[in-house]
Amino acid sequence: MTEQSAMSHRGAKPVRTLPDAQTVLSVRHWTDRLFSFRVTRPRSLRFRSGEFVMIGLLDDNGKPLLRAYSIASPSWDEELEFYSIKVPDGPLTSRLQHIAAGDQIILRPKPVGTLVLDALLPGKRIWFLATGTGIAPFASLMRDPETYEKYDQVIMMHTCRTAAELEYGRELVEGLKDDPLIGEVVGDKLKYYPTTTREESAHMGRITDNLTSGKVFADLGLAPMDKATDRAMVCGSLAFNVDVKAVLEGFGLREGANSDPREYVVEKAFVGDGI
Ligand code: FAD
Ligand code: A2P
Repeated sequence: MTEQSAMSHRGAKPVRTLPDAQTVLSVRHWTDRLFSFRVTRPRSLRFRSGEFVMIGLLDDNGKPLLRAYSIASPSWDEELEFYSIKVPDGPLTSRLQHIAAGDQIILRPKPVGTLVLDALLPGKRIWFLATGTGIAPFASLMRDPETYEKYDQVIMMHTCRTAAELEYGRELVEGLKDDPLIGEVVGDKLKYYPTTTREESAHMGRITDNLTSGKVFADLGLAPMDKATDRAMVCGSLAFNVDVKAVLEGFGLREGANSDPREYVVEKAFVGDGI
């Protein structure tokens, strides 16, 4: 699809012509800084769970304003889900945060990314390590049956400053066991370890600290990480990614890629945090 004329669902007024237009189906605001939304999926779009695409809106001059976004829905889903930050003066998200059902967004259907199961050597346990909106690719992978076919245990560690920022992930994980489509596949293979760093909650602390101190292994009753059995995927700020990589290397894991599968892979949840 290249050009598509778009009709607004609200009042059926013709709206601007968007290249690669998709229709917003629903929007949910989680905090004043976070929201998620679902859009129609182009019939031709094939992607691997964990990949990202470019999405956006037209700017005031009618030029596409695009940013990278992880697809948060699994590859089998008929719709596409995204989980987004609201940057107050952000060129895209200062506008995107106002979308409503019936609106249109641009979606460039060229999925790419390193957080794919193919980029890892076979193993027994897989660790998903995320801060903030970095949980988005794992929202996809946690809902993909292939994850559970390839691994005996799936451990989702997600850390945010406050409990409210964990809510999108918490609701998703809690709904999985009863999910009519993949609940049985997930069974008790998925272990969830959410932590906060700037607000009291059941589990606290940075992912790096909880791995190096061994707290997460003790709390979940798991053996420490071992290169022979453990695989990891990392998605957070650059500073987080750098620090987690050092921790994983300390356990003997090596960074892999699509073309060179190894024990862990990393992707930035966003760029430009000054490092
Ligand atoms: P920008 O000018 O793009 O960013 C302004 C500043 O806001 C940045 O310098 C940074 O300091 C901060 N910032 C941007 N994004 C975030 C974020 N997600 N969390 C915390 N601070 C941030 N964003 C998402 O919300 N959801 C995703 O699934 C997602 N996936 C991404 C995948 C990849 C591979 C990359 C590189 C980025 C991804 N991003 C994601 C970030 C996204 O591309 C945009 O940066 C974000 O939507 C803000 O756009 P903006 O134009 O409003 O501000
Ligand atoms: P902390 O509150 O101790 O900085 P942010 O909101 O700044 O993007 O951070 C999201 C979460 O990631 C916070 O809980 C933060 O913890 C944590 N974090 C930030 N930087 C690192 C890092 N270098 N290593 C581990 N955790 C980090």
